[in-house]
Amino acid sequence: MNLISACIFDLDGVIVDTAHYHFLAWKRLAHELGYDLTPTDNERLKGVSRMQSLEIVLELGGVTASEHDKELMANKKNTWFNDYIERMMPEEIFPGVKQLIRELKSKGIKVGLASSSKNAKTVIQTLRIQHEFDAIVDGTMIKYSKPHPEIFLLTAQKLHVKPEECLVFEDAEAGVEAALAAGMKCVGVGDAQRLYAAHEVVEKTADFKITELAKL
Ligand code: BG6
Ligand code: MG
Repeated sequence: MNLISACIFDLDGVIVDTAHYHFLAWKRLAHELGYDLTPTDNERLKGVSRMQSLEIVLELGGVTASEHDKELMANKKNTWFNDYIERMMPEEIFPGVKQLIRELKSKGIKVGLASSSKNAKTVIQTLRIQHEFDAIVDGTMIKYSKPHPEIFLLTAQKLHVKPEECLVFEDAEAGVEAALAAGMKCVGVGDAQRLYAAHEVVEKTADFKITELAKL
């Protein structure tokens, strides 16, 4: 029996490659502070809040800063990130994602968005997909960011479904951990070795076959 009645999508790195824009903006901050960030470092920044990402970036460079300076650095990074997303085109949505969402909905599956980003609404408006979701939860609506399960539990609540009926699509290790902690099924998007804890891993979001829903 198919128990999945809702699919919950992460945004950055699952629907669009804004994960790369976050990386470029953090890299720029690190360069200003005199060091570089590697793609491996970036994996730790995925899924976690802006301030938690900043703490990791500073730790990687061995930098200590006052709360005031941290605030300034986070704002600077966010300004650069916004410069990127302002220039983003609706066509940057990953191929096949809109079709996957529509196919799920045509089968009666509810669709939610759960992003730790406080910029999520701007991104989905730019991509013109804000109306595709039955519920949206972003970084402005939660207290704890992934790997805490709060964001997914709140999305399930807004969708009026039980956590065990949800399937989450996530590219971040912290996101997979959060989905599992919420008692949900999870499809990892990206590297199978890194996202080994997920129930299934696909290289790209649209590689997920809707027929898999019954097997999860
Ligand atoms: C998540 C990203 O979606 O949002 C993280 O994966 C990012 O890398 C986080 O730090 C917070 O984003 P924002 O836009 O609020 O700075
Ligand atoms: Mg992500």
